[in-house]
Amino acid sequence: MNKTFRQDLVVRPRRIRTDDWTRRMVAENRLSVDDFIWPVFLQENNGTSDVPSMPGVKRYGPDCLVDAIAEAVELGIPAIALFPYNNPETKTEDCREAYNPDNLICQATRSIRKHYQEIALIGDVALDPYNSLGHDGIVKDGVILNDESVEILCRQALVQAEAGCDYVGPSDMMDGRIGAIRDTLDEAGYTYTKIMAYSAKYASGFYGPFRDAVGAKGALKGDKKTYQMDPANSEEALRLVENDLQQGADMVMVKPGIAYLDIIQRIKNTFGVPTMAYQVSGEYAMIKAASANGWLDHDAVMMESLMAFKRAGTDAVLTYFALEAARLLK
Ligand code: PBG
Repeated sequence: MNKTFRQDLVVRPRRIRTDDWTRRMVAENRLSVDDFIWPVFLQENNGTSDVPSMPGVKRYGPDCLVDAIAEAVELGIPAIALFPYNNPETKTEDCREAYNPDNLICQATRSIRKHYQEIALIGDVALDPYNSLGHDGIVKDGVILNDESVEILCRQALVQAEAGCDYVGPSDMMDGRIGAIRDTLDEAGYTYTKIMAYSAKYASGFYGPFRDAVGAKGALKGDKKTYQMDPANSEEALRLVENDLQQGADMVMVKPGIAYLDIIQRIKNTFGVPTMAYQVSGEYAMIKAASANGWLDHDAVMMESLMAFKRAGTDAVLTYFALEAARLLK
């Protein structure tokens, strides 16, 4: 024992872990409510509905929405991201509902804005919740058309900006959409509507519960590998971020979250730009399911996972835990 324990070399690193006050003083990162963006699901019907694969998450109808936001505002959550669940009759192959100035996101934006000024609203820009074929772009003969989709995404972003969204969040992964949306917004005078670009979005199995939440699962044929990224790649993520920044992205996003912390860290270290991450539905579902079984301590794992984002260099996390985490921090 004495042979390996070198008294002369031991610096006693445990000394700074012995008491709570020291641990607090030397903590390198801290979570605050400012780190959270809350994703909110909207539905056409009044009332609320549950998302079975996402325990605790609800979709809110027009009559319940403003009340549902109240706590987020009170807790000081800086932003919410709006995602629509449309009835099957509303979905078409041409996705025209996406640019209807009275669609769910536009209506929700106007009604929330009427009641609250202190929370930012982020409109999701992608076609999947409006597409009877379930894809993020226009599908023709089984192919996801790029430039035709970008045209629709621009119209979608414009109606959201007109309704009062502070940010548009293109989550579609079509080529060239950031620049096209920037031009569209600028030409219409929305110079200060921000673009939160989903730049490094991977073709992930962790999105399953979200597709239940927006009702896109049944319709979707095949996978999204021709537009979302291959989980094997990270150099490509840097190229995509660089490209989106050149096209006018104000902030970039990595998605999913926990399995992609290396990507977040590389992006932050390389570009030093506002870097967001999405702790996606499958990550949420895993923690909820394991803690419902008593296999994990819910609050401990929730906070640890959020801290991991922070440590990797994330500026803010889209997380279904936003309200629960903010309550705990309070
Ligand atoms: C697609 C979109 C997805 C999510 C948000 N917007 C993924 C997808 O269906 O490919 C996933 C979010 C989550 O899993 O929480 N526009």
